[in-house]
Amino acid sequence: MTEQLLEARDLRVDFGQGREAVRGVDLTVARGETVALVGESGCGKSLTALALMDLLPPGARASGSARLGDTELIGRDERTMRRIRGDRIGMIFQDPMSALNPTTTVGTQIAEVLAIHTSMGRRERRRRALELLDSVGIPDPAVRAKQMPHELSGGMRQRVMISIALAGSPELLIADEPTTALDVTVQAQVLALLRERTRDTALLFITHDMGVVAEIADRVAVMYAGSVVESGPVAKVLEAPEHPYTAALLRSVPDPDRPAIGDLPTIPGQVPSVGEHIEGCPFRPRCASATDECATAPALVTTGESAVACWNPRTDLLSEVAR
Ligand SMILES: Nc1ncnc2c1ncn2[C@@H]1O[C@H](COP(=O)(O)OP(=O)(O)OP(=O)(O)O)[C@@H](O)[C@H]1O
Ligand SMILES: [Mg+2]
Repeated sequence: MTEQLLEARDLRVDFGQGREAVRGVDLTVARGETVALVGESGCGKSLTALALMDLLPPGARASGSARLGDTELIGRDERTMRRIRGDRIGMIFQDPMSALNPTTTVGTQIAEVLAIHTSMGRRERRRRALELLDSVGIPDPAVRAKQMPHELSGGMRQRVMISIALAGSPELLIADEPTTALDVTVQAQVLALLRERTRDTALLFITHDMGVVAEIADRVAVMYAGSVVESGPVAKVLEAPEHPYTAALLRSVPDPDRPAIGDLPTIPGQVPSVGEHIEGCPFRPRCASATDECATAPALVTTGESAVACWNPRTDLLSEVAR
């Protein structure tokens, strides 16, 4: 059995009065592994990530368990979490502008992170900041380091964010749609950079783009209505999805030869909203394979490297599924 670095069990996010947005997420990331967390908009991907880092919006409360190695992350005090963030978990968000300080040069911002998470002296931090900028493919690091975030392009800013996230040599990097706001060419460059720079770092990569999943991940976890409904090795899940939701997501992608490329298509019906009472399988109202059994919620059952929460899992290859 591989050693799990991150292990979330029944992770929940509640907005009060039982209004749950994350309804029991089971998720593991092994050391050095890249796991893609996918699902339609609003299914709770970002809140899951924010719960892991104790950065939930006001009014939201996390419960359940998420262990990073031997450390429980849920319910810890702010001081402990501040040390864990940056030190052990690095973060990259969709919008680097909101994460960077608009009034400080990027060089200083990297140096500040190094001051918190390393014992380097001032000089050493300056030198390391330039080295980090260089390592994420920023030309003329010495010039760029003196610039403000708004003087950089979106792709450059995201590279800066990656260098900041990696500055404390975290064990786990969480990236929430890090390339969504970038144009396609820059997106590919940033993705390649992430892949290269996280070869030894575990990466939890949140995306709604199945093409990106195939490109970057070792394993994929598919979320629906606040829970993981299927997970497994990328090739397995993309070629032989067992959950009807995963199959529907992949099947409705237009090009049959490239079933895994492009944004998630829309599936008829509606995603349950936050706090909505769900009885039985949450996908039941939209599922073509639903039976009477589905009135009871299926548990996420693990078989080998895969897991699925479905009473009637598919057994055919995606290529055999009628289009
Ligand atoms: N501060 C908040 N107050 C109330 N509801 C919220 C808040 N933040 C998020 N939600 C709701 O929780 C649900 C899950 O949100 P989340 O941001 O985790 O979705 P997501 O899967 O990341 O979606 P996307 O792909 O659009 O980023 C959504 O329905 C959202 O409207
Ligand atoms: Mg999100």
